[in-house]
Amino acid sequence: MDKSYVFYNGEIVEEEKVSVSIRSRVVNYGLGVFEGIRAYWSDEDQELYGFKLIEHYKRFLQSAKVVNLKIDYTAEELADFTIELLRKNGYKQTTYIRPIAYKDTKTVGVSIEGHEDDVVAIYLQPMGKYMEQEEFRVKVSSWVRIADNMLPPRTKATAGYLNSALASLEAKRAGYDEAVLLNRNGYVCEGPGENIFIYKKGKLITPPASDDILEGITRDVVMQLAREELGIECVEKSIARTELYNADEVFFSGTAMEVAPVVEVDGIKVADGKSGEVCMKLKELFADITHGRNEKYKDSLRPVYGK
Ligand SMILES: Cc1ncc(COP(=O)(O)O)c(C=O)c1O
Repeated sequence: MDKSYVFYNGEIVEEEKVSVSIRSRVVNYGLGVFEGIRAYWSDEDQELYGFKLIEHYKRFLQSAKVVNLKIDYTAEELADFTIELLRKNGYKQTTYIRPIAYKDTKTVGVSIEGHEDDVVAIYLQPMGKYMEQEEFRVKVSSWVRIADNMLPPRTKATAGYLNSALASLEAKRAGYDEAVLLNRNGYVCEGPGENIFIYKKGKLITPPASDDILEGITRDVVMQLAREELGIECVEKSIARTELYNADEVFFSGTAMEVAPVVEVDGIKVADGKSGEVCMKLKELFADITHGRNEKYKDSLRPVYGK
């Protein structure tokens, strides 16, 4: 296997030179924040396109600020490092980009004070489809979504993903493909790693930021595409569990999952139980813009090889 390179505290180094101690606070207490970004390979253009890099790195910096992690780089600088890293690894396939910042202090104690041991790193993972399924059968989880005054979902904190993992595990053990979490008020929140939309009576509806969701970058793109390309009204409002059962369409959005139809909720078919038309149109539009096939959205892409 060719050598793999990562970004680690300002330098691009061989991945095998980087390690994390079992004593590290990020291992013991999950004291870190991360991002998930994609770079899309276009066969037609023979180019790799970083998608919405600045938006992701701005969210990364905001997450770090909340949990007192110091990142000495701007979003633009982190985007530049990412391009350099992608080039160095030479990937010519769709790739997942994982920036992570964490407390590497190696003494026992849950403190997030101080910055001496803060680490900022980026690694890459070639990734086509995130999950095998084309359409999803989901279960509303008995695990309640973390809230802003518990473990803020907005920060994309490492520790918060135990909540996601428990919900996913429960759903999969019960024979479903994925979970949907409700927030502490009983409203639909999101999937373990994706936002959720319903389409009903000609409107696209998604929970607002105040319902303890992660404000997804794909969610923003989906709303823009729905409004500007399909002329569909988009509303951010709380969604009750039974609205999922009675929706005309339900679908997920997220960097890893992209745009994916949900065809069944708690064993109840969504409409006729087939992938929704609006969802599939949005999925196609999304694939076009991420692969550089739509001039209007080219500024959301950053070419890696610059051909
Ligand atoms: C909990 C959660 N919700 C939603 C999303 C979707 O966000 P984005 O579209 O920015 O990837 C993610 C993925 O980052 C997530 O982890």
